[in-house]
Amino acid sequence: MTDLAQLQSKALAAISAATSMATLEELRVAQLGKKGVFTELLKTLGSLPPEERKAQGQILNVAKQAISDAIEARAEILKIAEINERLGKEWVDVTLPPRPMYKGTLHPVSYVIDEITALFAEMGFAVAVGPEIEDDEHNFTALNFPENHPARQMHDTFFLKGTGNAKTLLRTHTSPVQIRTMQENKPPLRFIAPGKTFRCDSDMTHTPMFHQVEGFVIDKGIHMGHLKGCIETFLRQFFEVDDVPIRFRPSFFPFTEPSAEVDIGCSRTGGELKIGAGKDWLEVLGCGMVHPNVLRNCNVDPNEWQGFAFGMGVERLAMLKYGIPDLRTFFESDMRWLKHYGFSALGGAL
Ligand code: PHE
Repeated sequence: MTDLAQLQSKALAAISAATSMATLEELRVAQLGKKGVFTELLKTLGSLPPEERKAQGQILNVAKQAISDAIEARAEILKIAEINERLGKEWVDVTLPPRPMYKGTLHPVSYVIDEITALFAEMGFAVAVGPEIEDDEHNFTALNFPENHPARQMHDTFFLKGTGNAKTLLRTHTSPVQIRTMQENKPPLRFIAPGKTFRCDSDMTHTPMFHQVEGFVIDKGIHMGHLKGCIETFLRQFFEVDDVPIRFRPSFFPFTEPSAEVDIGCSRTGGELKIGAGKDWLEVLGCGMVHPNVLRNCNVDPNEWQGFAFGMGVERLAMLKYGIPDLRTFFESDMRWLKHYGFSALGGAL
């Protein structure tokens, strides 16, 4: 009996001294495993006289249970210790600010495109896109620019490879998206197409790359009244001035007939530009009724379908709405400029 008590207390001492799960497992095998101390002791019961066997068996089982409980309890403690150790080692302080601390902003061009898209979405316009590398066919010919017409030169085109209609170029406006959309879809159509455009021109008010938003509607019975209503609704909402005067001035584009340029009223006092009723006018976009030749070029019957189109410069609208004085600063990637004129990703000025 003393033997058993000794064996038990030695085993318990070893268990509570175990510092790893591996040692604990070794102890379990040594004590309770198939060839463990207590398993061997149980085997000796058979040789005892029956009256002693029961009492001795009970004592042994109690001791075995005590050891098994101790192993379990120790395993619990070791597991928690192991987790705590890992937590200590692998801990990352997610509350630390990133270094260097810089909060990004939305570029005014992206923000204004989002604003324009949202306003036209309310009027049922979808969004279309087209390639920045175009061909002569889509950028000019299908848009009713006659061969050798001075308008082709007027655009200061960056020509790439090829000849004739297949000659590739950087698109000079977003109007080729009109052609692509009509070639791929049947009317009625109502979409805007924002994107980059390119002209070989660089001074205070021109950059070789700039952004336009094209607008395009084809349906039955469309007339100039629809065009005027659409443009006026957009401009009043965009500039957030309900009574801003709007003027349609006759103009020329090969792909629209009649064509107009649209001005909004403004005043310049003390070097400050204010959109709204005033003495001055500012040109904001070009527009017109889609030329029947353009419809024919895309296999749309002009006797059945009519439409209007408009195109506006994104940077110009951004400059007017947000009082940004110099166009070239848009593309200088100056962090101070971006911080000042950028917008919070969650909407609104910073
Ligand atoms: N594409 C013309 C430009 O870049 C703008 C425009 C678009 C005019 C649609 C009329 C209709 O100047």
